[in-house]
Amino acid sequence: MKNAIDARRSYRKYIRTPISPQSVEKLREKIDEYNKISGLNMQLVLNSPEAFEKTSKTYGMFTGVENYIALIGKTEDELAREKIGYYGEALVLLAVKQGLGTCWVGASYDKDACNAEIAEDESLYGVIALGNVFSGKSARESVIRGAMHIKKKSIKDMYRTDTQVPDWFINGMNAVQKAPSARNKQPVMFYYVDGKITCGVFDYDGFEAMDLGIAKLHFEIGAGNGKWKPGNNAEYEITGQC
Ligand SMILES: Cc1cc2nc3c(=O)[nH]c(=O)nc-3n(C[C@H](O)[C@H](O)[C@H](O)COP(=O)(O)O)c2cc1C
Repeated sequence: MKNAIDARRSYRKYIRTPISPQSVEKLREKIDEYNKISGLNMQLVLNSPEAFEKTSKTYGMFTGVENYIALIGKTEDELAREKIGYYGEALVLLAVKQGLGTCWVGASYDKDACNAEIAEDESLYGVIALGNVFSGKSARESVIRGAMHIKKKSIKDMYRTDTQVPDWFINGMNAVQKAPSARNKQPVMFYYVDGKITCGVFDYDGFEAMDLGIAKLHFEIGAGNGKWKPGNNAEYEITGQC
């Protein structure tokens, strides 16, 4: 998982060769497992270009997207966005391990053309585009990244503390620094204060809650010694060796 964190970056240009049956099986297996644990209803949608066909919806940012994971959860579930971030990013890292390109998409797709089954009490919170890609940056990708000023924050700007933090905490923060976030805002702030470790976002109602779930997963993988409680400003519980 740590290697996948290092290798991951967003891809917006995809090759139209289908995802291999082995990778599809692995993704479906994990999607089922995570849906059971979380109460989410994530769905793998294959060979369906419709949600990325209209340039007016994608702002011309994506080409060749034919596969995605539809990120669906109960509308009334206050933790839905955070859980989508956490389990969706676990699926992103699994896809990266399969050699696939991925991109979180919260806004620049055609929601109404999404080929997923959404019940009345459920909402579609976004999708994760995925598929085969050419390695290396395409000219289009370089322009988009330049326009979005893709530069990661330094980890010192991502946590506050009243002490000398241990190495495992820094390892966690290094993994957080590499996490994807909506508009690359990296909004999650971490605290190691009074011996208590917490993290949170300013606005828990939008994409920031998804960014929070993603950042929590990255921290757990990087630190390797514990698990976050669910929710905004929740605590990190050390369960393993420091
Ligand atoms: C919740 C979320 C929503 C996102 N929505 C979009 C989107 O609508 N369109 C897009 O092109 N990228 C989207 N992204 C991708 C981010 O722009 C990207 O992760 C960020 O710029 C950092 O770049 P990197 O993923 O290559 O590290 C989204 C990312 C996240 C986490």
